[in-house]
Amino acid sequence: MSAIVLLENGLELPLQGSASYFNYFWLRDNCATSWDGETQERTFDILAEPDNLHPESARLNGAYLEIVWCDGHHSRYELQWLERWCRSSHQDDLAVRSRRPWYSDHYSNMARFTYAQVMSNPADVADWAQAMLDDGVALVQGMPDSDEALQSLCELFGVVRPSFSGYAFDVFSKASPENLAYTSKALELHTDLPPEELAPGIQFLHCRINDAQGGDSLFVDATAVANVLKEQYPAYFKLLTEYEVPFRYTTNHQDVRARQRIIELDPGNGEVSGINFSQHLADVFDFPQREMDLFYPAFRKFGQMLQDPAYRMTFRLNAGECIVFDNHRIAHGREAFIDGSGARYLRGCYVDRGELRSTYRVLRARYPKTAAYVPFNQPDEPVLARIS
Ligand SMILES: [Fe+2]
Repeated sequence: MSAIVLLENGLELPLQGSASYFNYFWLRDNCATSWDGETQERTFDILAEPDNLHPESARLNGAYLEIVWCDGHHSRYELQWLERWCRSSHQDDLAVRSRRPWYSDHYSNMARFTYAQVMSNPADVADWAQAMLDDGVALVQGMPDSDEALQSLCELFGVVRPSFSGYAFDVFSKASPENLAYTSKALELHTDLPPEELAPGIQFLHCRINDAQGGDSLFVDATAVANVLKEQYPAYFKLLTEYEVPFRYTTNHQDVRARQRIIELDPGNGEVSGINFSQHLADVFDFPQREMDLFYPAFRKFGQMLQDPAYRMTFRLNAGECIVFDNHRIAHGREAFIDGSGARYLRGCYVDRGELRSTYRVLRARYPKTAAYVPFNQPDEPVLARIS
């Protein structure tokens, strides 16, 4: 007796002890012959199939489902492969990983790599990329003092991605600055460039000189903060994941605008994936005034929580170090430094997060997990207990 039931738009067959349904178009579209052997791109055109596409026959043959279609085409599917698509509507993706929240004490646990190590060993690049996916931040030490070194480091993850400031940006001060473009004042916690339609993903900040007094770097795992907001103020959290907030950047030849959600969710696993937060680049909020009664309390509460020292990692970035972080996940800032106390020069670049994930998929498949990268220990106590 055939265990397969042919229905109007699809068929049922027994998998994992129950009847599993597969749509005819989906089956035909994903026949093994649909793909180019060299490029792995789909060369089959489902649009050209008839509206009433259906099998002439379908049968189970050992570990395979075999179909003869109405035009005579034969398809063969491994049952194990079909089972995978029953379990989940999402593909198994190495790069969809749970984010590990971290707090003010993260500096000593932060993943560290040397420039020489990652430039010479792709397995270390896989571990570095994994740290970026899990922790959102890592430190690369022993950087040569050159623009080329930064570019080479970025290119281990992907192509350097320009912003409205160009392919790289420089943050500098001198003992006797010629202009005030770069001041010694504190920089509030922010994520970079939310006025761009797609705000930059991974940020590289290479410290070339740091002889100034003060100016410690500040980093906050904004997903850790957003998760606590979700627990303690669920209505605020929901609102900040829904409102599209205007951001704007202007110069005498630029007027860059985009709307962003303050808290972003990962479509892969539903986790908080990042934030867009920059008070100095926020435009005039243009929601109906009555809605401001709801929006501002949520916005202010989240911003105040971001500033809570319990979440803030503070440290001095030294010459020869490059801090690499997920610009959506990690809010960053800087304490004030003493003007005229010494030179300070950082150079930055961006790479898209999609490039990081691509690199991780390829390298992790090629270099399975090594013992060299030991992720930091998770705290035993629940998140809420750490934040008082
Ligand atoms: Fe910044």
